Amino acid sequence: IAVVAPSLIMSFLCGSIPSGYLIVKKFKEIDIRVTGSGNIGSTNVRRAAGKKLSAITQAMDVAKGLLPVLISMIIFKSFDVDMEKSYFIALNAFFAILGHDYTPFLNFNGGKGVNTTLGAFLAIEPISVFSGLVVYFALRPVTSIVSIRSMALGAVIAVVTFLKGAPQGSVIFTALAAVLIIWRHKENIKRLVKGHEK
Ligand code: G3P
Repeated sequence: IAVVAPSLIMSFLCGSIPSGYLIVKKFKEIDIRVTGSGNIGSTNVRRAAGKKLSAITQAMDVAKGLLPVLISMIIFKSFDVDMEKSYFIALNAFFAILGHDYTPFLNFNGGKGVNTTLGAFLAIEPISVFSGLVVYFALRPVTSIVSIRSMALGAVIAVVTFLKGAPQGSVIFTALAAVLIIWRHKENIKRLVKGHEK
């Protein structure tokens, strides 16, 4: 507990940094939450502030997931924790995503966690993350609606992790991450049903 609790707090806080919000505020002097879809993620940053700032947001949101997981891997390794059997690393990944989605810096209402999910599981389940990205880009000619492809990406990461017989921690937390991505897209789903999604 003495090691796990601080590492989870570190992961949550790292994920909590509202990159998209901060970048758009600094360079465009607008609140991303009142423009476009209102989301703080890179898709909405592109609508509000263009490709370059969107790419920076995306890189930061991926890094917010990846870095705390790498740090927790180093910490747990130094304590001789069996990485294969342990749930702790995948739990840290999930906490980084929770930080992004429910950041205390924006009244606990952050983003949808797609880029942070990619980063968080990149070091733990790279094949699953790569598969998710392949499906995301393969769906591009089929639909230009990002939310549909994002939800598919989350689901593919979870399904591939399960199918490849990954450690239980990875299976559980990629599944929870996929459910969370879909939950955070509930407004998009409502718009999709009504045919209003951009
Ligand atoms: O990654 C978020 C994306 O799936 C949807 O973003 O701004 O269209 O709600 P947005």
